[in-house]
Amino acid sequence: MTAQLIDGNALSRQLRADVAQRVQALRNRGLTPGLAVILVGDNPASQVYVRNKVKACEDTGMHSVLETWPATLSEAELLARVQAMNNDPTIHGILVQLPLPAHIDAQKVIEAISPAKDVDGFHVASAGALMTGLPGFWPCTPHGCMKMLEHIGYELRGKHAVVIGRSNIVGKPMALMLLQANATVTVCHSGTKDLAAFTRQADVVVAAVGKRNVLTADMVKPGAVVIDVGMNRNEAGKLCGDVDFDGVKDVAGWITPVPGGVGPMTITMLMVNTLDSAERQAGVQAG
Ligand code: GUN
Repeated sequence: MTAQLIDGNALSRQLRADVAQRVQALRNRGLTPGLAVILVGDNPASQVYVRNKVKACEDTGMHSVLETWPATLSEAELLARVQAMNNDPTIHGILVQLPLPAHIDAQKVIEAISPAKDVDGFHVASAGALMTGLPGFWPCTPHGCMKMLEHIGYELRGKHAVVIGRSNIVGKPMALMLLQANATVTVCHSGTKDLAAFTRQADVVVAAVGKRNVLTADMVKPGAVVIDVGMNRNEAGKLCGDVDFDGVKDVAGWITPVPGGVGPMTITMLMVNTLDSAERQAGVQAG
């Protein structure tokens, strides 16, 4: 192994300790940051995710409300719950866990969340703010990737970053954040011809496709930074990313593992966004 590991668990612990301190400072002024998590249906993966989000709130001293509804909940009923959370002064962040049942229009629900409480950063107003460089909530997963790059002291200015994947949740916002940090950015996707020709030129590769072995050792420039956003399972049921870790670790300069890489950073950035929202309401200068 030549690559240095970027440890998402260790960085998350550090960042969450900082969040806990800032939460305590706000609580001393009589304001407890609060996150509302709404889960519809009984998707087992979603149940694990929301439990981890509520636990992270408890660990950092934040207030949280978890609402779980049966898959039969109507769209109108869900919109009414979102509205209730918009109007609740003890709630500073609202998260509706995705995916939603097919009879509910997820985009309509996301747009119903007040942009001031959109800690997922999925609202069009948040996307527009990121696009134009205005203040707003950044989606947690790509924001966590940027924190990892910052943590290793990586200077993005003038570097070539290749993002594989163009989802609204990861690929597109990731590209915009890298661009804002003055990298030269290429976005590759399922329609890209000769993916390897692009990744071999990359100083930074972010793999966010949701498919195993999208990036193999022969596709990586020696010394490159490789960030793996994937969450897949191999034949043995073991959690793995989009990157062939065993091969790429001998070529890359830095690499994030799965598990223990980007995953924990996503929830950490949700805590940061919720705290930022509460601080904004309290008129505290963002730290
Ligand atoms: N489902 C999987 N990841 C996420 C996320 O980051 N936010 C929400 N709301 N749903 C998700």
